Amino acid sequence: MQPKIGMFDSGVGGLTVARAVRERLPQSSLIYFGDTARAPYGCRSKEELMVFGQEIIGFLISRQVDVVVVACNTSSAHVLEELREVCSVPVIGMIDAAIALAGRCAPGKRVGVLATEATVASGAFERRAMQWNEERPEAERLVWTVSQACPRFVPLVEAGLSDSAEALAAARAYGEAILRTKTEAVILGCTHYPFLRGALRACLGPDVLLLDPADEVAKFVAHGAFGGVRGLRFEDREIGQGAEPPNVRYYVSGSTDLFWQAGRVLMGEGFARELVRQGQLNDVDVGMVRIQP
Ligand code: DGL
Repeated sequence: MQPKIGMFDSGVGGLTVARAVRERLPQSSLIYFGDTARAPYGCRSKEELMVFGQEIIGFLISRQVDVVVVACNTSSAHVLEELREVCSVPVIGMIDAAIALAGRCAPGKRVGVLATEATVASGAFERRAMQWNEERPEAERLVWTVSQACPRFVPLVEAGLSDSAEALAAARAYGEAILRTKTEAVILGCTHYPFLRGALRACLGPDVLLLDPADEVAKFVAHGAFGGVRGLRFEDREIGQGAEPPNVRYYVSGSTDLFWQAGRVLMGEGFARELVRQGQLNDVDVGMVRIQP
């Protein structure tokens, strides 16, 4: 029996993590929930993030998942520990993976993060980076420079405008803080931001490292690094090696069309054959998710 992975985000952002997990664990089943009706999460309160997270995890658990990936930095920054407490299966978040990636790729370097307003306000990245530094010799420590909130990014990505002039203008505005602080490595601290890699690269130039923690999270899933919650070890296979087509389903709380249009930029033409708008399925109890548009 292959393990079943549950994953959620406010919208298409978590697809960057879904893609990495599918590449690393091609035989696993994946149930993805994009809460597009309530996106963006970046301006939500901790209380709202907890309610949404609990509802969605309840839905994923009702689909018998073995592990939940919170493919959203905002929810990870604010309510990961609380969600772990109420969830019967291991829960993996984004922040630890991002700092581990920065520690590996940019030891001793000037590191900053681009993230949502709520993530920046939480201070979660700085806290985790400080812990990381405490456990390491001087030369390997991360030199924290800046945490920049980027509220214009997520609506642009959700609207399928990642390659637009507006996206470039927003990247230029937010990238200024990175350039001004001479930051050498930037954590993409929101799962939507890898969609904007082109715009960010154009503004930041070729030398700034852009760190997308998606594959690091996929490794956490593959190797059972769940913060000691429960040891599950998934089989980590070479891409495409004798794999059956993965059993993947995407659920969205808002428009399936918008999700499909924005998502297929990343996932390619085959995307969304099994895209289901919650409420349209008779055999699934989606009452766990209340929609308050
Ligand atoms: N993609 C999510 C994150 O990583 C949520 C962004 C949002 O909805 O504002 O933070």
